[in-house]
Amino acid sequence: MKIIDGQIKIIKDSRGHDTLEAHLLAREGEGKNAVAFASVPAGKSTGAHEAFVLNPKEAFEKFSEIKKDILKINFRDQKEFDSLLIAFDGTQNKSNLGANLILSLSLAFARAWAKSRGIELYRYLKDLSDNQKKFFEDFPRPLFNVINGGAHVEIPKDWEKKFGIKKGLDLQEFQVIPTIKDFGIGLSVGQEFYKKLGKELSKIYGKENVLLGDEAGYVCPFKTNQEALEIMQELINHHLYPLKIGLDAAASQFYSKQNNLYTIEQEEMTPEELSVFYLDLFERYEMISLEDPFDEESFDDFSRLSGNLLTEKQTQKNKKLIITDDLTTTNPGRLKEAIEKKSGNAILIKLNQIGTLSETIEVIKMARDNGWQQVVSHRSGETMDSFIADLAVGVGAWGIKSGAPGKPERMAKYSRALEIWKKESVVF
Ligand code: PGA
Ligand code: ZN
Repeated sequence: MKIIDGQIKIIKDSRGHDTLEAHLLAREGEGKNAVAFASVPAGKSTGAHEAFVLNPKEAFEKFSEIKKDILKINFRDQKEFDSLLIAFDGTQNKSNLGANLILSLSLAFARAWAKSRGIELYRYLKDLSDNQKKFFEDFPRPLFNVINGGAHVEIPKDWEKKFGIKKGLDLQEFQVIPTIKDFGIGLSVGQEFYKKLGKELSKIYGKENVLLGDEAGYVCPFKTNQEALEIMQELINHHLYPLKIGLDAAASQFYSKQNNLYTIEQEEMTPEELSVFYLDLFERYEMISLEDPFDEESFDDFSRLSGNLLTEKQTQKNKKLIITDDLTTTNPGRLKEAIEKKSGNAILIKLNQIGTLSETIEVIKMARDNGWQQVVSHRSGETMDSFIADLAVGVGAWGIKSGAPGKPERMAKYSRALEIWKKESVVF
């Protein structure tokens, strides 16, 4: 496939920050021209080992340096295109061209490739990842982040005076995860739960004290993490919703390297005490997943908790996941270490942590080959691009994490996944 022309644009993400969108015009052989766009998100609780993010304003110049070379080549596949960008960059962490610029081009190339062949993007990604599963048999589950904490929350200044609260919850994401196979029903249940939870929180804290965080989850003057979990679990039980609970602790955010202690609810905890805290949550609530329970360098603490929680007796029904995000940053070297140390059994996949589609697919395959599940994820600063929905379905991921079903940039991903579900599951 030849790239005939390309442009980089600056657009706004959901936090109102600048981000990049690539536009490519491509042609396969004598076929018709295909136009494709792709934009990239940005994280806030970013891992230290993520690839470099270029100031979007510098992207125009960088792109003009490589554009004429890109236009010269007739690319044989995605790998050739991505490898060329990696070679142009020439650094370990993409600090020359920036992972955001490279990724916007890599994803636009994938769209152009699928489009010029008249195939759906998720089918192209299925081939690319050698996914042998049938879509209908194992469709990704949505992880709805219905209560926000950590770096994704800013609380009003007067909450200290009114409620004695200086900051949001320590744990970053409080999720509900449907247990039913049908994605359409799962999405509806998630939406209904989200609405009911909003009403319930208004009753408890007053309507004016129910705000939204970066990922559309609720922010209230909760005193403790358990208080939020208690409300969620009660609502699930009361309505018999087919939902389980998941957490992303994003623990690097409340960790102090100096003394190797974590601070939760103003109390300092050793890694061992924090482990007990988590195991207690798994006992008390119907929890099935926990992401980043420890600091991003603590492979061994992850391993100890995984050893305690992920026993051999796990069946498909009671399976629990320890998900690594900041620990592994979608990076093959770090995933290898996590697999060897048995630091978890699932990896969070974020395209912009590594910076190309090809490298992301390699990490997904490594996870799959070693029996690790994958959860494909958005970032807290998002655009309307729904690429991750196609990626999650295409590679056969266990889950798709795109925040609460309450803001358009979050819904764009769930809606695209629903569209694919309908295409693949409705048989006449
Ligand atoms: P981020 O948060 O996009 O701000 O990094 C998401 C996550 O930690 O999973
Ligand atoms: Zn995370």
